[in-house]
Amino acid sequence: MYSSLPISSSLHAHLWQSYSDRPVLYFSPKVLHESYQRFLLGFDGLVTYAVKANASSLVLDNLASAGLTTFDVASPAEMQTVRAALPSAVLHYHNPVRSLVEIAEAKRFGVQSWAVDSQTELDKLGALATGTEIAVRLHIPVAGAAYDFGEKFGAGPEQVVALLRRVKQRGLTPSLTFHPGTQCTDPAAWVRYIEVAHAVSQRAEVDLERVNVGGGFAVWRDRQAPDLERVFTQISDCVKALFGEKSPALVCEPGRAMVASAFTLATQIKALRGLRTVFLNDGVYGLLSEFRDLGVSQRYQAWRAGSKLAGPSAAYTVFGPTCDSIDKLPSPLHLPKSIQEGDYLLFSEIGAYSLSLATAFNGYGGCEIVAVTDF
Ligand SMILES: Cc1ncc(COP(=O)(O)O)c(C=O)c1O
Repeated sequence: MYSSLPISSSLHAHLWQSYSDRPVLYFSPKVLHESYQRFLLGFDGLVTYAVKANASSLVLDNLASAGLTTFDVASPAEMQTVRAALPSAVLHYHNPVRSLVEIAEAKRFGVQSWAVDSQTELDKLGALATGTEIAVRLHIPVAGAAYDFGEKFGAGPEQVVALLRRVKQRGLTPSLTFHPGTQCTDPAAWVRYIEVAHAVSQRAEVDLERVNVGGGFAVWRDRQAPDLERVFTQISDCVKALFGEKSPALVCEPGRAMVASAFTLATQIKALRGLRTVFLNDGVYGLLSEFRDLGVSQRYQAWRAGSKLAGPSAAYTVFGPTCDSIDKLPSPLHLPKSIQEGDYLLFSEIGAYSLSLATAFNGYGGCEIVAVTDF
């Protein structure tokens, strides 16, 4: 376990002694290692990490020290950050739309796998070493995710057939990639994609070197813990059943499910107003930004002086600290009626798309990060 920060004994030890007005993100290297181990043990292929979910050096250093070698990067800036943490990192550039300048930079970084979803983007890559992996990105409509990426990325089956053939003709290594959509709880979404991946490879008469099943693995946002092992098993069983001896190697690139549970956010109530309105020292312009798109996670608790608040609760409208009136959680939080100014709200499973999306609007959005042995 690695941390460049001194490790406090626990979240609660730090919260009651040292919290000073700014939101604190508590980071547990132990929990991050456990998440990585869960993928390593359960997923039948190469486990990579989607850096966009949380590019902090704490996360990258810990994953590298735990043995993770390969990273899904979306930009040259992410490549730079990853290589600072692990100079030998293998880079998968799986953002399928790139400028010529970005392509040139990525080549300097020695990118080893490129996702493409159109002929023009394939052509734009120019000369590549023979055997370079091109992961053709498939999109089909599937249900089961909090939101789908299909409007923006991915080629339909017909186009994937043509792209796979073109990749092979060019002497490059044909693979296939997809993303079932974020916070996807239903294994059927991956299964459907794998069925289509098999069908297009048959039609193209191209053997796939690898199938990258993306991210999209869900984390706990309410009372239901996601069953990742069920997803892993169905992915593996489906590939073996369809492809048999010609089964491609599997790759996954989780962001959210790798990192979310390793962080808990402690916010403080700055003010209570009127009937059931709370002002917090963080909000949708800060570390709670994703709540605006995915809805409010139910993984929160109210605390005061070392005790969890209980008793009858009510729905509270929650505003963040900025002067903007839309700095408001999209739905109320159910909080004990006894809450007071100075109490803390702890949001767990908050490590993904929090630090990476926070803005400095109105001078807020910053936080202290504290490494802990335990939540
Ligand atoms: C290509 C790609 N891979 C992986 C991910 C990570 O997805 P998630 O955080 O849902 O696991 C994303 C998210 O945007 C992505 O675009």
